[in-house]
Amino acid sequence: MNNLLEQQNQLETNIFKMDRGQDVALKTNDLHVWYGQNEAIKGVSLEFEKNKIASLIGPSGCGKSTYLRALNRMNDEISGTKVTGEIMYQGIDVNADNIDVYEMRKNIGMVFQRPNPFSKSIYENITFALKRHGMKDKNELDEIVETSLKQAALWDQVKDNLHKSALALSGGQQQRLCIARAIAMKPDILLLDEPASALDPISTSKVEDTLLSLKEHYTIVIVTHNMQQAARISDYTAFFYMGNVIEYDETRKVFTRPKIQSTEDYVSGHFG
Ligand SMILES: Nc1ncnc2c1ncn2[C@@H]1O[C@H](COP(=O)(O)OP(=O)(O)O)[C@@H](O)[C@H]1O
Ligand SMILES: [Mg+2]
Repeated sequence: MNNLLEQQNQLETNIFKMDRGQDVALKTNDLHVWYGQNEAIKGVSLEFEKNKIASLIGPSGCGKSTYLRALNRMNDEISGTKVTGEIMYQGIDVNADNIDVYEMRKNIGMVFQRPNPFSKSIYENITFALKRHGMKDKNELDEIVETSLKQAALWDQVKDNLHKSALALSGGQQQRLCIARAIAMKPDILLLDEPASALDPISTSKVEDTLLSLKEHYTIVIVTHNMQQAARISDYTAFFYMGNVIEYDETRKVFTRPKIQSTEDYVSGHFG
């Protein structure tokens, strides 16, 4: 009976639950996002498994970035937006009014499409937020700088230049610095919006390797317009279309035997 219900859920748009047994790190229940009258996300319920990578794919304008930004309340900063529904993280609804958004973002961090390091040194890029949160001990800061850069696969290239400007790094290195900056806060969840779209193929492949190694420590949700990338790095893939999630499943299933025709059309390059 349970099995049947699960299968039924999987055939319904927008409502997808893990089979029983997985450890869910983050989930949304009936999430809607409006920009004024435009309903950009139409009641999406997804679950993200701990220590896995989930890709959000779909044609431009279908709501991938909007959904991702909702997960750590970045849409709050865009006036005229309304977000309803639950975003459950460790038993807490991140979308509730009384949430300290600043604290929450220590746990649910974000990396943006274009590398956006501060115009400060590599070292200060990583320690800036830590210091603002009150961390003063130099040894502790040094150690976090080193471990974050190692996890972001950048340490070997910058360890002798930590006090040089971050802006002197290549685009791919800047993006890995932004990943290091995000993980310095020791988040549980890392959200990335097309983090490699501004990078050349070699830098892209380094960022992908970095993400694959990071899932040992973090749960990752990544928006990508690059289907090969989704296929290469993600455990799960959600296909978004016009504010709905049409299909969400293990990546290999979405790419090799999708249940829904429009998913198949999209992943085989017939539209979008
Ligand atoms: N800041 C914004 N203000 C108003 N409308 C927006 C904003 N960002 C996105 N939208 C609208 O929301 C819909 C989804 O956009 P978006 O989430 O950016 O899609 P995607 O990331 O899949 O390309 C589109 O109709 C887009 O025009
Ligand atoms: Mg987008």
